[in-house]
Amino acid sequence: TIEKDLNEKNILITAGPTIESIDPVRYLTNRSSGKMGYSIATEAVKRGANVTLISGKTNLDVPVGVKNFIQIESAKDMYDEVIKNLEDNDIIIKSAAVADYKPKSKSNKKIKKSDEDLVLELDRNHDILKEIGKIKEDKILVGFAAETNDLIENAKQKIKKKNLDFIVANDLTQEGAGFGVDTNIVKIIDKNGNIEEYPKMNKSDISNIILDKIKLLLEK
Ligand code: PMT
Repeated sequence: TIEKDLNEKNILITAGPTIESIDPVRYLTNRSSGKMGYSIATEAVKRGANVTLISGKTNLDVPVGVKNFIQIESAKDMYDEVIKNLEDNDIIIKSAAVADYKPKSKSNKKIKKSDEDLVLELDRNHDILKEIGKIKEDKILVGFAAETNDLIENAKQKIKKKNLDFIVANDLTQEGAGFGVDTNIVKIIDKNGNIEEYPKMNKSDISNIILDKIKLLLEK
């Protein structure tokens, strides 16, 4: 039996990719399958938490027991829903892969091809995590860092810039880590700079390690 050690805790989890439309038939996205975030949601439910899951489009079933499931497409949609649901949640885990850029203008009609090259101009999206970091007060805020190089340095900068309690850093160059797969290889770095390194594990086991760390923070 699983101990309901997160009973009545309200946890907001984001998962999956965002989609940024170019025209009615084309979009920009990324390789997130949603598995990492859905796994955290599944394990948090088992441990008794009230889970709100804000998710981009994935092929996964909504985890059984999730209280509040919100499907979104774009980074702007995700931002709006996170802000809307912030007040009701004391713990926020941002495992979604959010687009940093979106097309400057979205065409209502399918863009026709011509013999010329096409230049797509991009605008910055909100950095959702950074915005929450500014207003989080005593909420627990956990981010992810997906990197191909300088993993620890980049992750540490994200903790500072986004005011996180800790960050889960995955090195996308390692086999069995990051996007799409059922496993991950992570380093968890806290805001004091302490680093814990984990071997390749199932995303469900990593989810429980993340939730254990949150529980410790709650007890402090
Ligand atoms: O979904 P899977 O296939 O299981 O893959 C899991 C994963 C690789 C997507 C996941 O483990 C992961 O690393 N998620 C974060 C991916 C990411 O966008 O990393 P980042 O380093 O670009 O962003 C850092 C943090 O800021 C993330 O918590 C991200 O959610 C957040 N962010 C980023 C950009 C943005 N505009 N707003 C944000 O909130």
